[in-house]
Amino acid sequence: MMRVALALAAVALALAALTPAQTGDSDAGKELFGRRCGGCHSMDRVMEGPPLRGVYGRRAGSLPGFQYSDALKEAKITWNDDLLDKWLIDTNALVPNNDMAFRVPSPDERREIVAYLKSLSQ
Ligand code: HEC
Repeated sequence: MMRVALALAAVALALAALTPAQTGDSDAGKELFGRRCGGCHSMDRVMEGPPLRGVYGRRAGSLPGFQYSDALKEAKITWNDDLLDKWLIDTNALVPNNDMAFRVPSPDERREIVAYLKSLSQ
């Protein structure tokens, strides 16, 4: 019994060590991006969603060659940490009537993904 408990404790410690830093680890972000966003976004290609390389610091809805909703084109915002976080919490609360129907409920996942997008925009 004791041995099982010790083994479990060791597993828990190993998992804790794998958990990325609080500030957002962009390797984890890359992996999450692939899983959560990759069905609709690539970095450089137009898919259902616009390419996202350089999106951090870019004016929303401004990439030539992608057909944005009027709502996003007319939203006068420039993507930063706070606004990307809000977008991923609930796109519709930030920009009503936009075309992206997807949310990321986990604050940790949002932080990782935003850190990754930021790392590709500098
Ligand atoms: C179901 C498809 C879909 C998924 C999944 C998706 N998106 Fe989108 N995304 C879109 C579409 C479509 C737009 C364009 C919205 C518009 O024009 O109103 C968009 C727009 C965006 C924009 C604004 C881009 C710009 O140029 O202003 C960002 C940022 C973004 N998505 C991030 C993400 C991230 C990060 C994820 C993963 C967590 C994600 N999206 C998942 C479809 C998706």
